[in-house]
Amino acid sequence: MQENYITRNEEVDEWAYTMFLYNSALKKINTKIEILKEEFRQMYRYNPIEHVSSRIKTPESIVKKLRRHNKEISIKEMVESLNDIAGIRIICSFTPDIYQIATMLSNQEDIHVLSVKDYFEHPKENGYRSYHMIVTIPIYVATGTVQTKVEIQIRTIAMDFWASLEHKIHYKFEGNAPKYMYSELKNCAEIAAKLDEKMLALNNTITQESAKMPPSTDTANLEHEIEQLAI
Ligand code: GTP
Ligand code: MG
Repeated sequence: MQENYITRNEEVDEWAYTMFLYNSALKKINTKIEILKEEFRQMYRYNPIEHVSSRIKTPESIVKKLRRHNKEISIKEMVESLNDIAGIRIICSFTPDIYQIATMLSNQEDIHVLSVKDYFEHPKENGYRSYHMIVTIPIYVATGTVQTKVEIQIRTIAMDFWASLEHKIHYKFEGNAPKYMYSELKNCAEIAAKLDEKMLALNNTITQESAKMPPSTDTANLEHEIEQLAI
């Protein structure tokens, strides 16, 4: 009885400790993204990041995934074989922003990129387009350093819209949706990709044109008055 109790307690601690590491890794990467976002906003008056979300995989999904891959159900196996316990999704306005953010993150000294899947370069058969990176980030704890894995998904607003509907359909029909739905989805993915292309071209034109235009009298006056405040 006593032995069982002690073993169980140790297991609970190990689970809590492992989750603490993944949560810390999410915090660190979220802070990095926040800093980049703030730098862009303050220095370049441009915002490549629309929004960011993060999540820790639920114990239920972890067990299901381990089972699906015929892996042993243990914390050790989970840490070694699952790369998406901690996940961050970054939504950008335009496709080039995705590569810019991916490069800026992977160039940071403490981020180590384990693998990359570029589903923009190579869209999936169903039309899915997204940029995935599995990275590790060091977590400094009382006993030393633990390199902790995080999955980073970067995609456009249009592709995120598509992926959430596709996920919903996939989930609802447990992978057996009517055939026409899959072809409709694929069609929608092509339209979303086209939309991204057209919006980017339009945005580039706007940027080029506004660079050529002299500031309006109103803007010039306002800037002059702000300068007087010596900001
Ligand atoms: P998982 O075992 O599902 O995590 O995929 P994987 O290990 O083969 O890696 P991959 O990089 O292909 O996918 C990682 C994650 O990207 C998935 O868990 C999903 O969140 C997302 N994803 C990948 N493919 C699709 C897709 O076709 N549709 C949607 N909606 N999401 C996808
Ligand atoms: Mg996953």
